[in-house]
Amino acid sequence: MWGNLLLVSLLSLLASNAASPGLVDVIYPPVENGPDARTPLYFSLIQSFSGQYVSVYSLPGLHMALDFINQDNTLLPGYSLHYVFTDAECDRKEALNAFHHQVFDKVITNKLGVIGSGCSVSTEPTAAISHYYNLVQVSCIASSPAFRNRVLFPRYFQILPTDASQANAFYAMIRHYNWRRVALIVQDENLFTAAIDELKEDLFNDGVEFTEETLVIVEDDIIEGLSKDTFDDDSRIFIVAGYEPVGRQIMCEAYKNSLLYPRYLFFTISWYNAGWWRDGVEQYGCTPEQMEQVLEHTLTIVFLPSARYLDPSLTTDTKANLTIGEYLRRESEDYVNSAPLNISKVDEFSSDCYDGMYAFTYALNNTING
Ligand SMILES: *[C@@H]1O[C@H](CO)[C@@H](O)[C@H](O)[C@H]1NC(C)=O
Ligand SMILES: *[C@@H]1O[C@H](CO)[C@@H](O)[C@H](O)[C@H]1NC(C)=O
Ligand SMILES: *[C@@H]1O[C@H](CO)[C@@H](O)[C@H](O)[C@H]1NC(C)=O
Repeated sequence: MWGNLLLVSLLSLLASNAASPGLVDVIYPPVENGPDARTPLYFSLIQSFSGQYVSVYSLPGLHMALDFINQDNTLLPGYSLHYVFTDAECDRKEALNAFHHQVFDKVITNKLGVIGSGCSVSTEPTAAISHYYNLVQVSCIASSPAFRNRVLFPRYFQILPTDASQANAFYAMIRHYNWRRVALIVQDENLFTAAIDELKEDLFNDGVEFTEETLVIVEDDIIEGLSKDTFDDDSRIFIVAGYEPVGRQIMCEAYKNSLLYPRYLFFTISWYNAGWWRDGVEQYGCTPEQMEQVLEHTLTIVFLPSARYLDPSLTTDTKANLTIGEYLRRESEDYVNSAPLNISKVDEFSSDCYDGMYAFTYALNNTING
């Protein structure tokens, strides 16, 4: 009894901590007290506050879903559901640290699953081991084609389609314009290389010549050995697949080497935030205006964030009876800049995290009687 009280007050203490990157745990929602308190169930939430891709801007939707779930007495009756958060920094090593911290180190070690862990780069290593700990893992942001391997990732599930689908769009464009030679510039991560591998197969079958430059990223997200030689001399069409830091460095180097429209044309793969070319680009020796000269005719392929393009008055057949417009309003009014993680904005994958949270809970609910 005393043990339980101690645990509860320790938990509410943790729950009131402000979020910060690293291994600072946040528990949400606060655990119930009193004679009618439901039995708390926990899952690990691992996302990224920093790094090559910041995934926490998708959490407003997850928070909203979690609140609805805890108010709904037909879901997990007798239980309340809570997460314990750790930051993975969109980094392989930090994600493994976060995962081990969640599984072994903390007050609450008996978690039922993982939602995460952030970008594809940080999700791959944890999804490869979470099944050894009997944990089901759901990601609402990762999309690496590598996850299609069910032998390596047997208990991993995701909401987004695979990034390999982007290859089809590039290929369609190459065919449309009947381009006969393209240069592929690819960050050395499965998320990008696997998508580009699919494109290479199409190009090969179609007899389109291509060259490939693989980029290795070293400390501070710097591309190792970036120079004029990164750009194939005989190509005029460049397809760049890499996170924002790669995009910025490549476009800046392209500017320095005068690889400009109309003679040269660049394409990028998704995962870029609005205005991505401006952030800190001076450190590479370019101004935003110079970047814009390279980017003026650049085409980027992105996922269609469905919730944001549908009729806002549509009432979809959801458990919480929300119209899309009402979902979007509540997401930004009630869940941005709010406790516990104080996420400063919302991105287009937030509705996927809403869905991911529900998918995880429905699966868990189905285990209650069996
Ligand atoms: C959603 O609407 C249905 C039908 O009107 C109702 O039975 C149900 O209680 C509502 N659910 C919520 C969460 O408000
Ligand atoms: C969230 O952060 C903003 C700006 O840093 C601050 O003004 C606000 O009070 C914070 N809100 C919460 C709930 O922590
Ligand atoms: C959740 O599980 C309970 C207990 O088995 C069940 O009564 C309820 O219908 C389930 N809820 C949903 C939404 O499937």
